[in-house]
Amino acid sequence: MTDYDEQVELDVNGERVAATVPARMLLVHYLREVAGCTGVHVGCDTGNCGACTVLLDGQPVKSCMLLAAQGSGQQVTTVEGLDAPCVPALRQAFTAHGAIQCGYCTPGMLTNATALLCEQPDADEESIRNALRGNLCMCTGYQQIVDAISAVAQQGEAAQR
Ligand code: FES
Ligand code: FES
Repeated sequence: MTDYDEQVELDVNGERVAATVPARMLLVHYLREVAGCTGVHVGCDTGNCGACTVLLDGQPVKSCMLLAAQGSGQQVTTVEGLDAPCVPALRQAFTAHGAIQCGYCTPGMLTNATALLCEQPDADEESIRNALRGNLCMCTGYQQIVDAISAVAQQGEAAQR
């Protein structure tokens, strides 16, 4: 360990992951290279694309915008660990609506959609588009993605009736 290293300990998808890493290592690289969560994608490394979105203590964050050390002691959920009740329906709806093309943006989209539907199970289209405003799809499949999430939200709305 040098003056430039940091001891980082995170709860990643329910498992403790501890390592000594360079102090300036980004959370996204810690998750991929140390925790082995390669479902967390790196699109830009500059906070623009949302492919690296994870939940930090339940809230969506772009993991390329945080140092790994800033997450120390917190719970991280990556796309591999999403287990909210809406997740199976979201996965199925993404497939059924053709919302996955190359799939590069999909982990970030699914993670943000999960966070939204946990907070607002009957989210309307405006809320869905708002929740995804920081996520880019290079294949430009936005409408299919919104349709997929809307379909699940409508099930949530029906369940509340
Ligand atoms: S890789 Fe983090 S926002 Fe693009
Ligand atoms: S499906 Fe290719 S970037 Fe969104």
